[in-house]
Amino acid sequence: MIGRIDHVGIAVASIEEARRFWESLGLVIDHVEEVPQEGVRVAMLVVGESRIELLESTRPDSPIATFLARRGPGIHHLCLASDDVRADDARLRAAGTELLRPEPTRGAGGCWIQFVHPKSAGGVLVELSQDGEERA
Ligand code: CO
Repeated sequence: MIGRIDHVGIAVASIEEARRFWESLGLVIDHVEEVPQEGVRVAMLVVGESRIELLESTRPDSPIATFLARRGPGIHHLCLASDDVRADDARLRAAGTELLRPEPTRGAGGCWIQFVHPKSAGGVLVELSQDGEERA
């Protein structure tokens, strides 16, 4: 089940450049983390209960590098917090929704994540994320 907006993901050429604007609004970077399996470095800005995720590519063939080459910097995805990503994955799949991955995978912060293809979500890349405790 979906609870709230967890974060908005923004593709940036450089976290060091991009952070200046957000920090000028008084927002603070909680942490910076590299996610090798996604080919990205991630900086999380705290915005109340939600966050802004700055995404910088770490290799030329990463999804963020491809996005930047096609569209330039900007909003990349909307992430909704789920209390059970596997259950949401199964429900969406049963309804014919196109998901990007065969099953949920580990993302930044050890979260379990899945993505809904934009063509099933009105042109929006939607990420579902569940806090990353170990699970059976
Ligand atoms: Co995200």
